[in-house]
Amino acid sequence: MARKKIGLIGAGNIGGELARLCANEQLGDVWLFDIAAKENFAKGKALDLEQNSSVLGYDANIRGTSNWADLEGSDVLIITAGIPRKPGQSRDDLVATNLPIIRNVAENAKKHCPGAFAIVISNPLDAMVYEYKRVTGCPKGKVVGMAGVLDSARFQLFLAREAGVSIKDVRAMVLGGHGDDMVPVLSMTTINGIPASTLIAKDKLTAIVDRTRKGGGEIVGLMGTSAYYAPASSAVAMAEAYLLDQKRLLACAAYLDGEYGYKDLFIGVPAVIGASGVEKIIELALTDEEKGMLEKSAKSVQAVVDVCKKS
Ligand code: APR
Repeated sequence: MARKKIGLIGAGNIGGELARLCANEQLGDVWLFDIAAKENFAKGKALDLEQNSSVLGYDANIRGTSNWADLEGSDVLIITAGIPRKPGQSRDDLVATNLPIIRNVAENAKKHCPGAFAIVISNPLDAMVYEYKRVTGCPKGKVVGMAGVLDSARFQLFLAREAGVSIKDVRAMVLGGHGDDMVPVLSMTTINGIPASTLIAKDKLTAIVDRTRKGGGEIVGLMGTSAYYAPASSAVAMAEAYLLDQKRLLACAAYLDGEYGYKDLFIGVPAVIGASGVEKIIELALTDEEKGMLEKSAKSVQAVVDVCKKS
């Protein structure tokens, strides 16, 4: 059987790490796409990664391009096109720059890759994924935003360190929008089935929730640009779930059509990803406090979507 084809739209920091992971995990052949001015950069990065294969032992072809025709027939698209945050910026500050970029990407994806499962990473995430679906008109299960896996990973790390346990034993989910009012669901956070609240003091949990919400900004403050290793791994976990029909239950920005009381909105919810894309959205019995936080977060997302709709 021919290898799967993975199109990475944006060959920057996240794009490069995505390519490395997709190739190393033998998910398929990779096309690293960027704008014409950065075509050689994309080609150079692809060549470097392909040379890496003879050391690491993967067979995937990795190519750079600025020609959408090369992406025809892609099984998966992972979209990082756009600019990342600089210190002091919120994700929402990126909307003016990244909105025309996601529209351009969506128009080309509609034309050249209509069957692809799309994973959007560009920020402001929940609005960009909404815009991608609106422009492509793709089925709701064929596009998803990557935020919840990353935010949950950050939350789980901080919990594991505080509790002094392995990261493997911490299970938690962060729902809602990918912004500072995201919703770490404490009522369902466990350490190998034991409620985290019985092992970690309340004030420490509050501090961890706060650090998680500002987790992206903490890295932007340190590096001057946004994170790329954990964002890339998170998106690759989602791509793998689709390509290998794993039916993984992951927190993702999925299109809501009444679930959790929201319609025509993407926000982070637990979703099952398999060969059909987003196959199911799981509705959790949230506490009243969590429902309130989700409502606040959804309102913030809706406000950015409304800005996009007017532009
Ligand atoms: N089509 C394809 N690629 C584009 C387009 C476009 N229309 N416009 C810009 N790009 C490319 C840029 O040329 C750049 O190479 O997207 C790439 C983005 O790479 P980086 O600047 O390194 O940014 P990165 O850290 O990868 O983050 C990308 O993901 O997490 C979000 O907030 C982050 O929105 C940002 C995105």
